[in-house]
Amino acid sequence: MKLSIAVLAGDGIGPEVIEQAIKVSDAVAKKFNHELTWNPALTGAAAIDAVGEPYPDTTHDICVAADAVLFGAIGHPKYDNDPLAKVRPEQGLLQMRKKLGLFANVRPTFTFPSLLDKSPLKRERIEGTDLVFLRELTGGIYFGEKGRRDGGETAFDNCVYTRAEVQRLAVKGFELAMTRSKKLCCVDKANVLETSRLWRETVQAMEKDYPEVTVSYEFVDAVAMRLVQWPNSYDVLITENLFGDILTDEASVISGSMGLMPSASVGTENALFEPIHGSYPQATDLDIANPMATVLSAAMMFEYFGLKEEGQAIRDVVNSALDTGMVTEDLADGGKAYGTIEVGDWLAKNV
Ligand code: IPM
Ligand code: MN
Repeated sequence: MKLSIAVLAGDGIGPEVIEQAIKVSDAVAKKFNHELTWNPALTGAAAIDAVGEPYPDTTHDICVAADAVLFGAIGHPKYDNDPLAKVRPEQGLLQMRKKLGLFANVRPTFTFPSLLDKSPLKRERIEGTDLVFLRELTGGIYFGEKGRRDGGETAFDNCVYTRAEVQRLAVKGFELAMTRSKKLCCVDKANVLETSRLWRETVQAMEKDYPEVTVSYEFVDAVAMRLVQWPNSYDVLITENLFGDILTDEASVISGSMGLMPSASVGTENALFEPIHGSYPQATDLDIANPMATVLSAAMMFEYFGLKEEGQAIRDVVNSALDTGMVTEDLADGGKAYGTIEVGDWLAKNV
């Protein structure tokens, strides 16, 4: 297969981890006879510095023309502590999601056999966890009208959803559940929020189209608790944008390190693959960042194109690296810590 991939490395550790994912993907492509071309483009603080905006049109054009986008991370501390900053790297991410129509954010949480004792949660709680969040990504409070009134003394962010937005996300949830254990959990706050009542009503009306899927409806506060108490009771979870943002960070703790979890953002035309961790600015250029989440995001990318064996080859080599202790400092646990590049080289060589 010939694939052209837009590469948006972004800020902080983004470029370093992306470089490893490219290396590993190229090794997979060589092994399975695919032809990958990588088209770099600017985003985030790096793009603000270069051209004054975080998601320039040239970058958008490169993304649209590509078969998929591989994304690193964006964010820079110089913007975090400046509430008055006019442009922010994060705006680039939101514009990109919206303009590329990436309405479904797929965030799996699974455990790695060799890391079960590294999680802050007890082994017996997390063993067997294999769940997927489908987070709605282009609506809700992130994109509703926001502003100030009363001379700046009052602020508001509106949360808005249409039935169609809920439906298209829920379709993905039902379809994914059909390929897994046929269990779907709709996470909302329908006891308080009108948007949540629309979510619940919409998903309930869709149940008849998927008679084999068992749907549960749970409030977000209860899910936040159950997620760390009995994570392996969940399979596919669908939820709105902000709830999904918060719960998926919480869920990442289960696997033992934020540096391990990949994600995909998909729409009808485009697809983007990225680690769930951020730009980790303190670690920039120190060769200590864990590249595995980005490498596993590349695995999701191959799988998205139907290349299951290729994806599995990446998952297998990551597992062998974890088994043999070829890991960065976040996972070294007193043992030897390898550099980002060393880990990337090892994965590429052994894939
Ligand atoms: C994420 C991030 C982003 C979000 C930020 C950086 C805007 O936290 O991808 O989860 O809130 O969606
Ligand atoms: Mn987040």
